[in-house]
Amino acid sequence: MSEPGKTKFQIDLRHYLRETEEDRDLTRVICEMADASKYIVNSIRTGDLGVAGTSNLYGEQQLALDVLSDRIIRKRMLHSGVIANLASEETSEIIPMDPECEEKYSVAYDPLDGSSLVDVNLAVGTIVSIYKGPNLMQPGRNQVAAMYILYGPRTTLVLSTGKGVHEFSMNQLMEYTLTRENVRMESSGKIYSPGGQRNLYTPGTENFVRFMEEKGAKLRYSGGFVPDINQILMKGKGIFLYPHLQNAPQGKLRLLYELNPMAFLVEQAGGAASTGRQRILDIEPKRIDDCAPVFIGCRNDVAKAEEYLRSEKAPMAAVGKA
Ligand code: F6P
Ligand code: MN
Repeated sequence: MSEPGKTKFQIDLRHYLRETEEDRDLTRVICEMADASKYIVNSIRTGDLGVAGTSNLYGEQQLALDVLSDRIIRKRMLHSGVIANLASEETSEIIPMDPECEEKYSVAYDPLDGSSLVDVNLAVGTIVSIYKGPNLMQPGRNQVAAMYILYGPRTTLVLSTGKGVHEFSMNQLMEYTLTRENVRMESSGKIYSPGGQRNLYTPGTENFVRFMEEKGAKLRYSGGFVPDINQILMKGKGIFLYPHLQNAPQGKLRLLYELNPMAFLVEQAGGAASTGRQRILDIEPKRIDDCAPVFIGCRNDVAKAEEYLRSEKAPMAAVGKA
């Protein structure tokens, strides 16, 4: 698994993908994304923090950085020559490139997740979901690869092509080299990362959060999905939730751009991801902007959340003691 003269942990992303015998065009997509991230990280460090004057499909104000990151990736994908269809959280429609081609790949991505945190210098990320063929509107279990890039104190790329989860870190030459192979999650953990306003939680979610608190879990929530999931994955323990709320039955996070790729990665590491009632990767998308509630992380904690939600109608205190 290593190039002559190099230890396994100096191996770079492209060589790793070659040695693990990934398809050449899939390797292309992944490496183009990795290259795009080098320009994105540079823009984050030095670019304009102002608004773009436009809004996305969800009515959120777009920052100049959102628009720039989206353009950087779109251009790379277009020039790669291996893309059938492309969908970005920042645009409202699927962008056809070779829209019937079964041999090429289709990609859904969130170019700069958590971008509103850049002005307070917190971590943000890029999230990527990859399918073989032209169809982006299929359950997430059919993804052939998923990855995210975390722009934190260090820049890391976390990838799965269905053979476990591996972390690559950007070195001083801006190359990604392997830093962790086969990341695994424990069956339960003592970190919880709860999104959404707690006074809008339904009784099942409230009781689940009390269960986590009673078992001594620590709260870790940054407001950025990528760093929050990365913490749980790399520490191998914990659960992130952005549940259904009393005024938002589908929660906030987007199925195609955020939940499916993260669910694929977490499952590949031995964890689980659920809406509370259904496995995230089994959801049939209806629209590209579908959202869903999510409980994602250690499998026993996700199962516990499902259990509390099944008894949603039971009195809160009684359920909370279970
Ligand atoms: O893209 C959505 C997002 O910014 C995620 O990165 C993050 O997990 C979530 O929204 C935070 O939402 P809130 O501000 O409601 O906590
Ligand atoms: Mn996002």
